[in-house]
Amino acid sequence: MKSKIYLPFLFSIFLASKVDAQGLDQAIEEKVQTLLDQMTLEEKVGQMTQIDVGVVTVMDGQDVPQPFDMERLSDAIINHHIGSILNAPSTPNNQAQPIEKWRSMTQTIRTMAQQTRLKIPVIYGIDAIHGATYTQNSTLFPQAINMAATFNRDLSFKEGEIASREVKASGIDWNFSPVMDIGRQPLWPRLWETYGEDVYLASSLGRAFIEGHQGDNMSAADKAPTCLKHYVGYSFPLNGKDRTPAWIGERMLREYFLPSFEEGIKAGAPTIMVNSAEVDGIPGHANYQYLTTILRGELGFTGFTVSDWEDIIRLYSRDKIAASPREAVKMAVLAGVDMSMVPFNFSFYDLLLELVHSGDVPVSRIDEAVTRILRVKYQTGLFERNEPEILVSGNFATKEAEAINRQAAQESIVLVRNEKQFLPLSKKTSILVTGPTANLLSVMNGGWTLTWQGDNESLYPKDKLTLLKAIEQKTSGKVTYVGGKNYQDEINIEQAVNEARQHDVVVLALGEKTYTETIGNIDTLNLPFVQIQLAKALFATGKPVVLVTFGGRPRIITEIAKQANAVVLGFLPGMEGGVAMADILFGDVNPSGKLPISYPRNTNDIVHYDHKPMETFDPNQYNPLYPFGYGLSYSQFETSGLRLDKTQINIGDNIEVSVEVKNSGKITGKEAVLVYLNDVVASVTRPTKQLKAFAKVDLKSNETQTLHFDLSSEAMSFIGVDMKRRIEAGEFKVMVGSESVNFNVNEK
Ligand code: BGC
Repeated sequence: MKSKIYLPFLFSIFLASKVDAQGLDQAIEEKVQTLLDQMTLEEKVGQMTQIDVGVVTVMDGQDVPQPFDMERLSDAIINHHIGSILNAPSTPNNQAQPIEKWRSMTQTIRTMAQQTRLKIPVIYGIDAIHGATYTQNSTLFPQAINMAATFNRDLSFKEGEIASREVKASGIDWNFSPVMDIGRQPLWPRLWETYGEDVYLASSLGRAFIEGHQGDNMSAADKAPTCLKHYVGYSFPLNGKDRTPAWIGERMLREYFLPSFEEGIKAGAPTIMVNSAEVDGIPGHANYQYLTTILRGELGFTGFTVSDWEDIIRLYSRDKIAASPREAVKMAVLAGVDMSMVPFNFSFYDLLLELVHSGDVPVSRIDEAVTRILRVKYQTGLFERNEPEILVSGNFATKEAEAINRQAAQESIVLVRNEKQFLPLSKKTSILVTGPTANLLSVMNGGWTLTWQGDNESLYPKDKLTLLKAIEQKTSGKVTYVGGKNYQDEINIEQAVNEARQHDVVVLALGEKTYTETIGNIDTLNLPFVQIQLAKALFATGKPVVLVTFGGRPRIITEIAKQANAVVLGFLPGMEGGVAMADILFGDVNPSGKLPISYPRNTNDIVHYDHKPMETFDPNQYNPLYPFGYGLSYSQFETSGLRLDKTQINIGDNIEVSVEVKNSGKITGKEAVLVYLNDVVASVTRPTKQLKAFAKVDLKSNETQTLHFDLSSEAMSFIGVDMKRRIEAGEFKVMVGSESVNFNVNEK
């Protein structure tokens, strides 16, 4: 991990600022209190209000250099004292804008805030979930599911650094990222926004992202606050559709869905966005137990919570648990929502004022929410900043950032089948490239790319390469492309078959178009039938086929994968995805990605790697097409000599695991070594294995390295019958590769 800690530096911070038991800086707390004491109720409620930039911009503000309607901007900031603005101009056509326009837009807002009585800055937020989404030509990384496949914390840290720097160079203050939801429902159209199905992997990569994004000091010129989302349980809808009910019992919540948020809080994330759906019948925005009892009482979160899009009013309009919009506001605020992403009007502001006047919401609750919001504004240096502090040059879309992005894309691609070492391809081979995802950038980037849905191909940078273009650039052999008019699978199968016959190899790129949220809902993981037809027709030619897939979900490829000579899963590798995929296909890069999810064999075959013993009682029950952690290389790696520093420990002690990893292949390669643990007998059924540590190493041919992992007592804990985290004495089993060793935990 790259967070360097310089002791003298820490010491000087310690001397300069006093920190209380909750970790709060006393100097900031005093400033917040002084400011709060001067605020009117209107100014306070305004701070709790967040609006879409479309409220203060002209119609089609995305197309004009100065998008603001100055009267409306002044109404929002000066008359309604709003605390925050989000999004790109102008909904519903919001799209990426030139960086200079962003700098001047955010400057206009800062200047307007300076004209208010108390000069409280407005915090501007954006969904920079894989880089500065809405700034043209920004560095757009692989999406989170791919970052997870890298099993490389260092890359996640660097992604955080780059995203933050480019957001700040755009003059924007706040990033609605990372998604800390656990991706255990593959139908869910936001699966790819998560770091996959495993709690430890998601927590580790999310933490690394936050550390890169915020640094040691969130107020530094190139650092920005993160926002953990979507707290909590959003990612597990029973029916797989976005914004539909999850049924998560308390134990499951505490085992699977809370820990990544807890880790994000420990890593210093100062804001949290609320679950837009519901868990066990209670909408996220009305859940006092989650938002207050657990978040504040147990996890000690001191930052602020922000609602998701329009979700407070939905307690009335959608969920019918509030009888009026007014009651909806009351419920959400009393449950613990501090800021409302309203976002299209001032109804929240008006209703909350009324509620305080009538005594339905106590002023103390308003003071609490505003204290949290102001605290973050001070912590992030907003009060001192009057202009974007960093220059565009040297901080935005640099060559260095592009190189790191390319490395991330390369490490995020997963080779899952390579019959008789069919790959890598020779650069002299003649190739037919075909399939609906072969010649589009959008299919490799996913949602939140230049637009919300990421599907406007015409906005994509002209200098970035699709898979087809990258293959053309790399080879000296004949490359022919048979494509359709657009993604809609309109490939002329007959033409593709005829061309296949004229070439040595077919590269067939299948998958999904880009989407996010409800727009991406599907009823089956099966691939569209025409894609299967195309694949079958190509196999029938007898020509070798390399199957490449792009898309945010594991669409079912069982039938066709077994006929392909090689299968490479691209998921959403970002702007450098085409180049990275070609690097792998032609052997310029040795693949090292591993699956962060279990890739289902069949559409109803949703069993996770960390399943319960009864799920494998019948050995076929965990039978994915490709298991979690699976991924091939052009080298071979072996782990051996698995051992522990002790075989007996007491409850609360750590244990050290060591193992040798060897590259026994002929070329240099990277390998992620995964350490699993099983609590052999416990009072609550335990997963047959759970990831507890991992490391990625870079080894030359024949090189061996010894790895050491420290398993903390927390790794041995689980949620007991009483819903409290506990460790039970008894036997534990550590597994790495094909080896396992046991140890005993004794009562103290
Ligand atoms: C999404 C959030 C996002 C917000 C602001 C919502 O629809 O659920 O993830 O941060 O919009 O754009």
